[in-house]
Amino acid sequence: MAQAGVERRDGDKMTRRGLLRNIMWVSAGAFALQVAVTGLSMFWPRKVEGFGSVIDAGPLENFPVGSVTRVRDGRFYISRLPEGILALYWRCPHLGCTVPWVESEQLFICPCHGSVYEPTGQNIAGPAPRPMDVMQVEIRNGRVLVNTGVIRERARHTPADVTPV
Ligand code: FES
Repeated sequence: MAQAGVERRDGDKMTRRGLLRNIMWVSAGAFALQVAVTGLSMFWPRKVEGFGSVIDAGPLENFPVGSVTRVRDGRFYISRLPEGILALYWRCPHLGCTVPWVESEQLFICPCHGSVYEPTGQNIAGPAPRPMDVMQVEIRNGRVLVNTGVIRERARHTPADVTPV
């Protein structure tokens, strides 16, 4: 009887020891997994959206010739010229105000100091030293993609600035 009791106690000790060992291994495994996930997440590419990334402005048919469309997420206008598409950064080259498109005038008119721009972005009045900057445009599968991370200054508007369609 006494030996059976010892055996039982020894069995209990083994069970507790085994349980503690299992808890230790599970904890160590969870810790290692957390370290691995944290480490890998540093190398995982992040999804980038909005200004600074490539923005899908929509299907080409949304931009009829003569239209100027504001794309808020990318901070640009799509100006649809007869020869193609122009993406104009809405920041005024003078001192950085946001330049609105004035539909009634068919011009961009900066409210800060009165610089005036044609639909091509060419400056025609006011203190602005150059035309509105342009962003890189690509037409792919009938959609207008604008890379808002590539903004180019220009001394004057030229046909080469326009992406043909
Ligand atoms: S900031 Fe636009 S004209 Fe000065």
